[in-house]
Amino acid sequence: MSTENTNVKSEDFLKVEDLRVEYTSMGSIVKAVNGVSFELKRGETLALVGETGAGKTSIAKAILRILPDISATEKGKVEFEGQNLLALKEKDMQLIRGHKISMIFQDPMTALNPTMRIGKQIEEAVLRHNKVTNAEAEVRAREMLELVGIPADRMNEFPHQFSGGMKQRVVIAIALACNPELLLADEPTTALDVTIQAQVLELINDLKKRMNTSMILITHDLGVVNETCDDVAVVYAGKIIESGSKYEVFKHPSHPYTNGLFGALPNMNLDAERLHPIDGLPPDPTNLPDGCSFAPRCPYATDKCRHGEIELQDLGKGHFCACVRLDEIGKER
Ligand SMILES: Nc1ncnc2c1ncn2[C@@H]1O[C@H](COP(=O)(O)OP(=O)(O)OP(=O)(O)O)[C@@H](O)[C@H]1O
Ligand SMILES: [Mg+2]
Repeated sequence: MSTENTNVKSEDFLKVEDLRVEYTSMGSIVKAVNGVSFELKRGETLALVGETGAGKTSIAKAILRILPDISATEKGKVEFEGQNLLALKEKDMQLIRGHKISMIFQDPMTALNPTMRIGKQIEEAVLRHNKVTNAEAEVRAREMLELVGIPADRMNEFPHQFSGGMKQRVVIAIALACNPELLLADEPTTALDVTIQAQVLELINDLKKRMNTSMILITHDLGVVNETCDDVAVVYAGKIIESGSKYEVFKHPSHPYTNGLFGALPNMNLDAERLHPIDGLPPDPTNLPDGCSFAPRCPYATDKCRHGEIELQDLGKGHFCACVRLDEIGKER
């Protein structure tokens, strides 16, 4: 278990403020993340949910500062344990990346080096961030493999000798090898079949408890949110349009987008509940509409939705929602 920075108050763990990410693509500016703010306490898990292209992966990559240098710009603040990561020199960021903060990528198959034995890949992650000998790194790699349910004597095999689910476990072993304080898990189970999904989730939950790791979990699966997360943030067109504790957001989904996405949830029994498709398409991120980005698809939209900045409103109990027609919609429903 990590003992570093225990003097930092849990409230100061992660605070993201007005995060913005833009890509330059074929002469256009893609506005992928448009002013995202949230906080995460030590040991807690926040789910980021939303349709494809909403900007979820861009948020995670911006926190870790691994966006492509040539095409992406990021602005805002990512305060991690009291320091703004976006203001750090690259060499200081390297001390944090893979050590204090690590990421499980959306596509595990491309996250592994196909020409390197898996044991060596875990050892490299350990050696990069810890003052240990090669022999100690090997012991740690063996431990990590056993921890994710792979016999340590498979250390010398190459990625192609493992099944998809096992490769995902190896990726998790690498991400957790340095006891990160923050884990960014981008669709960690989507590529896996259902039984393996359950095992991998159980594993992440177990490790999180054991190491008090905080997590930002990106998922399309409401069952996963229900089992794994404390808080939920719903992302639409690069903005958080609703956020709060899992209980508040599931019990009282308030934004018309969240309602559409969650469908008519009869109760909290969300096993195997996927996000519902909604009619229409998200807006073009190179040409976002004025006002609420969801207005073009929203059955409740009126003229007042189509102008100005739509702020998050405080609904109490830590629940926030960005909809200017919230009160009226409540009566219309
Ligand atoms: N390197 C890039 N260059 C240009 N545009 C990009 C790049 N990466 C992402 N985008 C665009 O930024 C927007 C947000 O993408 P992002 O990958 O963050 O979405 P996402 O919410 O993770 O989607 P998914 O659920 O499909 O993984 C999309 O419009 C996407 O096309
Ligand atoms: Mg993504």
